[in-house]
Amino acid sequence: MRLMTIAMGSVFLVLLTINLFLLSSAPIGRAKIANTFIRSEWPSDDIPLRHKVFAIPKGYNAPQQVHITQGDYDGKAVIISWVTPEEPGSSKVQYGKSEHEYDLSAEGTWIDYTFGKYKSGYIHHCLLAGLEYSTEYFYKIGAGESAREFWFQTPPKIEPDAAYTFGIVGDLGQTFNSLSTLEHYMQSGGQAVLFVGDLSYADAYRDNGIGIRWDSWGRFVERSTAYQPWIWSAGNHDIDYMPNLGEIHPFKSYIKRYPTPFLASGSTDPLWYAIRRASAHIIVLSSYSPFVTYTPQWIWLRQELSKVNREQTPWLFVVMHVPMYSSNDVHFMEGESMRAAFESWFVQYKVDLIFAGHVHAYERSYRISNIRNDVSTSECFPVLDKSAPVYITVGDGGNQEGLAGKFRDPQPNYSAFREASYGHSILEIKNRTHSIYRWFRNDDDKEVATDSVVFLNQYWQAIRGGED
Ligand SMILES: [Fe+2]
Repeated sequence: MRLMTIAMGSVFLVLLTINLFLLSSAPIGRAKIANTFIRSEWPSDDIPLRHKVFAIPKGYNAPQQVHITQGDYDGKAVIISWVTPEEPGSSKVQYGKSEHEYDLSAEGTWIDYTFGKYKSGYIHHCLLAGLEYSTEYFYKIGAGESAREFWFQTPPKIEPDAAYTFGIVGDLGQTFNSLSTLEHYMQSGGQAVLFVGDLSYADAYRDNGIGIRWDSWGRFVERSTAYQPWIWSAGNHDIDYMPNLGEIHPFKSYIKRYPTPFLASGSTDPLWYAIRRASAHIIVLSSYSPFVTYTPQWIWLRQELSKVNREQTPWLFVVMHVPMYSSNDVHFMEGESMRAAFESWFVQYKVDLIFAGHVHAYERSYRISNIRNDVSTSECFPVLDKSAPVYITVGDGGNQEGLAGKFRDPQPNYSAFREASYGHSILEIKNRTHSIYRWFRNDDDKEVATDSVVFLNQYWQAIRGGED
């Protein structure tokens, strides 16, 4: 019976693979899908602060806004962050492999900051290093009756066939649509989130409201971020450049609250860095930091790409905020300058997928490049390129700005699928050669992804001489 189930499962997987492969391998100019699905939606207003999704945990000075991220290059460390509101309290994390039994501990540090007249709580960051792979850890923060307990799972060790499931979420904000995205994501089996920028949308507020909405967002996402790492990248709504409040240092709130392991990848700035996790090498870029030739980000990226070992981590992803290919009217061609700077490298190094947000809609491209773009010969249009990445925009988390519903008409040849609905994506890496990618619209049943593709690994495809 079990063998029959496995056999039926295999047949289904083969049929799904053939079906999805046909979709993914359609030549440019064909099979363009522009879904005009109109969904019911909640208003795009932020959830009121008194709502239970922002509830302050009980107990004096109880830790809140708990979130974790990868703390090193290879997934054997975690940074645990939280905020205490009344006084600094302890920055210690107690942890271990058994629930309620903590035989290990690590000491962190705390910082605070002001933003205009807002004064933050005490923001703690604590590194747990030397963890074992594929292990569940339990951890406890805070003291006495205010202590809180959580858990997380470390990734498998770095090896080419390590299976792993990433979620991709972006432009989240704190509306009821954001809550729907978060709840749908949490049912999806994702083990870590690649976050494509624009976290809280607190910059829509004035004066103290900015800091208060960063705090509420931290409590809002804690239901996921305390239990699995979110790999952060920064968007324009995280800049918080407000000279009228005397705030002239970009990304102040974001950097104080959401640390990244940038030093581990030789980066000199928390806004761009790389990590390796399971069978994936993930490069995070900053759309809003200098990136032209000879800038620190450019120099670092050139170095990092040369370090990628596809025999160990066959899957190569890039995460950024502003899409390099998008056929939406909103933010049209804003990514063109970064495309001009980096696209040839992405093709040269056979990047598998490039994830972005910013545009509040969903879109997936074919494997295309525009690296022959030459202003002197007027040759400047994207063409099918089997060495090129697929570009995916997942800026549809559900923030208070609403959806970007107007796509350019006609749908350009590089665009394979596009739809203006709230949702998130899941990328299920099966082994060194295959991954299954799905985009879920919030309204749909979880068993029916709205856009599905089997991606064949770019590195192994090139070695085998196949085509994707
Ligand atoms: Fe944005």
